[in-house]
Amino acid sequence: MSLDGKNIFVTGGLGFIGSHTVLVLLEHGAKVHLIDNLSNSFPRVYDHMKKLAGDKADKMTYTQCDINDGEGLTKIFEKETFDCVIHFAGYKAVGESVDKPLEYYRNNFVGTVVLLEVMRKFGLKNMVFSSSCTVYGLPEEVPITEAAPLKAISPYGRTKLFQEDMFRDIAVSDKDWRILLLRYFNPIGAHPSGDLGEHPVGIPNNLMPYIQQVALGQREFLRVFGSDYPTPDGTAIRDYIHVMDLAEGHVSAVVKVLATADLGCTPINLGTGKGSSVLEMIRAFEAASGKKVEHKLMDRRPGDSVAVWAATETAEKQLGWKSKFNVDDMCKHQWAWASKYPQGYETPL
Ligand code: WQD
Repeated sequence: MSLDGKNIFVTGGLGFIGSHTVLVLLEHGAKVHLIDNLSNSFPRVYDHMKKLAGDKADKMTYTQCDINDGEGLTKIFEKETFDCVIHFAGYKAVGESVDKPLEYYRNNFVGTVVLLEVMRKFGLKNMVFSSSCTVYGLPEEVPITEAAPLKAISPYGRTKLFQEDMFRDIAVSDKDWRILLLRYFNPIGAHPSGDLGEHPVGIPNNLMPYIQQVALGQREFLRVFGSDYPTPDGTAIRDYIHVMDLAEGHVSAVVKVLATADLGCTPINLGTGKGSSVLEMIRAFEAASGKKVEHKLMDRRPGDSVAVWAATETAEKQLGWKSKFNVDDMCKHQWAWASKYPQGYETPL
């Protein structure tokens, strides 16, 4: 699958999924201009990306810019013609969004309005959007298909759902827009080299970064939120997907957008179609790291679903894409990153 000669604009390009996707875009022959406002990342990520990009690093450009900065975006679009935008930028902590809804709506929703206005001004109507399984809320049945009811249950989830609704309205108003909404399940893992990975700021909300920090001895134990769920081992089930599989999924999505005139606005799940419980993830990480992950069974976390995993037929049919890595690979690569950079991008070089 080639993107030779294509120029891709990536927002949030120094983030966890953005940084891995940029590297895979380069591998497929694309040029990439990425922006990031550094609200949840580090300038040093770009150094790691350049090291991994090797001789393709000269196809990559980085500008510190916020999607809410219409002038800054315009300056970039005046100098370069892009074939497609991949839009990752946005705040993404569920818990934080409950405390700071206004900041989430302004940054995630209004920021996307500003980005879309600049795209329209320059006649660019090709978009791959970073959406999330969170738009499904508490699913009534699994596997979850793209036709499942949409009912976000957090301000963060609603910013994703409202952005999706805006994209759907735009596609109805102007048939020239080609938009894919990629609904990720639970992204984990790291670049197989161990030189790029996730660096959560503060106390991790998500399972795998927390497990990682327990394995490193940085946290005393993992709280397992709920052991009385109607699942085989009583703990909740999720569809964990390798960040490198997600990155490949984005390349397939860009190829699809560029090749499909009447695409409109289409949602596509990016998951493995397999579920793993919290206890299974603990065991997998212990096997990959050789470290004990101390944990205590606690009450359920409010708002959590019992079991979530993706129906993957649409991605296979529309993109010709399916995940390749399994949970052991995800844990092995995450441990390679964690053991090499125990303080993430703040690890002294
Ligand atoms: C996974 C499982 C927890 C932490 C979130 C967002 C979603 C998406 C993916 C952005 C659950 C359990 C967790 C801990 C635990 N992100 N857990 N102890 O909630 O499925 O989804 O991240 O789009 O939008 O909602 O992921 O990693 O927080 O939790 O037992 O310390 O691990 O209860 O069952 P979640 P998670």
